[in-house]
Amino acid sequence: MEYLDLAIQLARNAGDILKHYAAREKQVEFKGRANLVTIADKESEAFIIRGIRERYPSHSILAEESGTAESGDNAKVRWVIDPLDGTTNFAHQYPFYCVSIAVEENGIVTCGAVYDPCRDEMFSAARGSGAFMNGEPLRVSDVDKLAHALLLTGFPYDFRERIEIPLALFRGFLMESQAVRRGGSAALDLCHMAAGRCDGFWELKLQPWDTAAGSVIAEESGGRITDFANGPYAIYKKEILASNGRIHEEMLAVLKLAAS
Ligand code: IPD
Ligand code: CA
Ligand code: CA
Repeated sequence: MEYLDLAIQLARNAGDILKHYAAREKQVEFKGRANLVTIADKESEAFIIRGIRERYPSHSILAEESGTAESGDNAKVRWVIDPLDGTTNFAHQYPFYCVSIAVEENGIVTCGAVYDPCRDEMFSAARGSGAFMNGEPLRVSDVDKLAHALLLTGFPYDFRERIEIPLALFRGFLMESQAVRRGGSAALDLCHMAAGRCDGFWELKLQPWDTAAGSVIAEESGGRITDFANGPYAIYKKEILASNGRIHEEMLAVLKLAAS
């Protein structure tokens, strides 16, 4: 819990940095046509890395804006950081973004914290100890039919280069579920599913920092996460299917049909 306590503290304080910049003029740089970065991403990340380095100088760090994994002596413990998940929303002052910090030990994500500064909601989980939001236990929904389910998703940044597959999946789920939403923060999508506010989530080509914390929070609230072929999920995989468990088989069937 020592690592989780630090993750929570750093996520909250980094959220304050995002809030500070939210209403101010911010220079937006482009990593790709639809892939943005702002001063808030960079300051948030620098603050989090400083906080980890002070306490655990030997740990390894994988953070979005720093590029490659910065390896300390103790590569068994790796912090996986998205300093601002939902940068496009943030740049437009659309209030749906967060800070995501997770710890991976020997290849397994053992704890994570996701902080939404707009709603002041702190989602957190340590593997085997349940998931919480502002101290209250989280539980996934009990919706058991895809036709009654609210689903979340997102589109990969390079969708213009190859739109067919994301569109086929979107079409498939739109036709079979009650409704589909596209919020713009994969980490928050997973946390809202953990809180039972929606029932399933899928996305292609996410990065480890997008899903590391959210995946342990979703699993600890009773959710199920696999790849699109029902294989075990890992944060380095390029496909994620998350659900309350009850609609998972139906979601897998839609994926199979859409891909055929
Ligand atoms: C993005 C968000 C979005 C997802 C993108 C991600 P960023 O992260 O999680 O929901 O659809 O694929 O890259 O760039 O805002 O940190
Ligand atoms: Ca992200
Ligand atoms: Ca980011």
